Amino acid sequence: IQIKSLRGDTGGLITLDPGFKNTGSCESAITFLNGEEGILRYRGYSIEDLAEKASFLEVAYLLIFGELPTQEQLDKFYGDIKEESHVDEEMKKILDGFPKTAHPMGVLSSLTSALIAFNPGSVNVDSEEDMYTAIVKLLAKFPVLVAWTLRKRNSKPLDYGDSSLNYVDNILKMMFKKPNEEYKVNAKVSEALNKLLILHADHEQNCSTSTVRIVGSSHAGLFASISAGISALWGPLHGGANQAVIEMLEGIKEDGGDTKKYMQKAKDKEDPFRLMGFGHRVYKNFDPRARIIKKSADEVLGDLGIEDPVLDIAKGLEKEALEDNYFVERKLYPNVDFYSGIIYRALGIPTEMFTVMFALGRLPGWIAQWREMRLKKEPIGRPRQVYIGENHRDFKDIEKR
Ligand code: ACO
Repeated sequence: IQIKSLRGDTGGLITLDPGFKNTGSCESAITFLNGEEGILRYRGYSIEDLAEKASFLEVAYLLIFGELPTQEQLDKFYGDIKEESHVDEEMKKILDGFPKTAHPMGVLSSLTSALIAFNPGSVNVDSEEDMYTAIVKLLAKFPVLVAWTLRKRNSKPLDYGDSSLNYVDNILKMMFKKPNEEYKVNAKVSEALNKLLILHADHEQNCSTSTVRIVGSSHAGLFASISAGISALWGPLHGGANQAVIEMLEGIKEDGGDTKKYMQKAKDKEDPFRLMGFGHRVYKNFDPRARIIKKSADEVLGDLGIEDPVLDIAKGLEKEALEDNYFVERKLYPNVDFYSGIIYRALGIPTEMFTVMFALGRLPGWIAQWREMRLKKEPIGRPRQVYIGENHRDFKDIEKR
């Protein structure tokens, strides 16, 4: 049912839908998701095909501009990105001001917002050309900010990328290169990261994407909208779940590995504990991304010769949940975040950076959704409410209260 406005015809009738469980906020041609059948497609292409065959930058182009790029288009796109990869030196001072213990998501959101001060032309972007410039700038500078955030945590000197590398390899090098040492990209690591970034690249109107669209709908610029999206993603019920999953699995391991005890806790309504990485607002059969990631976790750990006991705990929990009425009745299955942290860890990425890696992957999706919203000239997002507070009250002077 499409509603234009109920106001005129109904004298102010509004729909109430907490959590927007049944409310569509827009029409979109970017991502198709069928939660009952576990289907996810970007611009019509299946996530399975894209994860297997595409590069992350191709997928970014596809999401943002609607078509898979030709080689020429991709070269031009990456060439434009490389030209914008410089981040103002003054930004290093801002990063320096943060304590080393600051959560990387807070730092990344702040730095993304701070970019506006150094790129004021990226705010009022009404033409497609201006939008393109803002988009390219962000795709270029965001990985630098991600790498700097990690390097600051690890007390490593801040550096720029290597334009001879592809987009994903360049990210790895910026993150992990040690001073005075050659950095050679491990092809298996690069392949795994490429896949993870693609799997996270868009997911229609989730919490962070809706945030990006709603902030952008006030015509705040792209960088401000993305900065807000990063904050929305940070929460443990959304992107922050990947960090929460590993912490949960570690906790179970340290507590003797008794998965049954934790299954019980998750089912106990008096206990706030939830099985992190389980359940999804839309997927009620399986999350296709989780299937790909589970397989990838096995492959990556095998390829890198890593044995991680938490992978066994994760598989044990999944097996028990599939046979447990509580989880079956509520259609709770592993989501994208259940196995992703195990791979990130195998790639040498610290736990607190997991959600930052999610943001890196989601960036093209957020950009595509912001661009679509602006090109369609969508109205400002402004939900209504049902007021349940006090009725009219007479003001009391302070001495009479
Ligand atoms: N563990 C235990 N019980 C759960 C879980 C869980 N992980 N998830 C949902 N439930 C239960 C709820 O308690 C509720 O039970 P009830 O009907 O007896 O009250 C029922 O399942 C429905 O759950 P809701 O919270 O109403 O479902 P909603 O669609 O609002 O929430 C969400 C979805 C937030 C993902 C939820 O499943 C959750 O908290 N999962 C854990 C966090 C997580 O993994 N988040 C990442 C999601 S994917 C992403 O954002 C990238």
